[in-house]
Amino acid sequence: MLFIIILCFGCNKYKYTINYYDRENLINILKDNKYYLEKNIDKYLSYSILNNNIDNIVREVNVGLYRDYYININETDTSLDNIVLVNKYNCLKSDYIPDDLEEISNLYNLGQHNMLRKEAKNMFEIMANDALNDNIKLFNISAFRNYNYQEYIYNYNIMHKGFELTEKYVARAGCSEHQSGLSLDINSVNNSFKDTNEYKWLINNSYKYGFILRYPKEKERITGFSFEPWHFRYVGKEVALIIKDENITFDEYYAYYINN
Ligand code: DAL
Ligand code: ZN
Repeated sequence: MLFIIILCFGCNKYKYTINYYDRENLINILKDNKYYLEKNIDKYLSYSILNNNIDNIVREVNVGLYRDYYININETDTSLDNIVLVNKYNCLKSDYIPDDLEEISNLYNLGQHNMLRKEAKNMFEIMANDALNDNIKLFNISAFRNYNYQEYIYNYNIMHKGFELTEKYVARAGCSEHQSGLSLDINSVNNSFKDTNEYKWLINNSYKYGFILRYPKEKERITGFSFEPWHFRYVGKEVALIIKDENITFDEYYAYYINN
């Protein structure tokens, strides 16, 4: 007994494994997790039956993964401005169009869908202009997309690529961040973009301008989408810095810091 206590001192995961069926102990370990939210305790406990990694239990329950994607969709709060959450659980009304959309300068645009909300657009142009000093060329290829156009893209992909692949890369209409006017695809929607200097520059610098990589590698379950090296989201500098420092997704940020 004494041996086990010494062995487990300061080792939460091990303690958890030994005492899997000890509810009180599990609750204590959950409470030690940085992103623990009191309101989710019952959900963590139910979810723990299917999942034995404390970190995953907390993160996944917080973002809503105790239910399937697109189930019980919430109408997202657009008054949150730059930090409006759009994902597979939080969607926009079909007629939502931001009222401050502006066209991205042709200097930094190669797409037909070239509008972003005013602040996001200004910051993208400043970022693209600064990037030129490092010999990096950044261009929008798809920014704001209205509900109908997103629906068209989704259906087109379903027809040509099938359901499974489409669901990994294309949001259903109403649930695309592109409809928020705060997201854009940069340079290329090809996975090889991850190997470019432009991508590396964005990873190292975009947060300084308030942008984040929205669908990172190894966060596919949390975000609901495959790694998209090209899709960046404007959240403002302060939030972008927290997301970068804590290595979390916007979904996790929102669940813990906004919807707590
Ligand atoms: N490709 C992103 C997930 C979208 O369709 O909004
Ligand atoms: Zn995108």
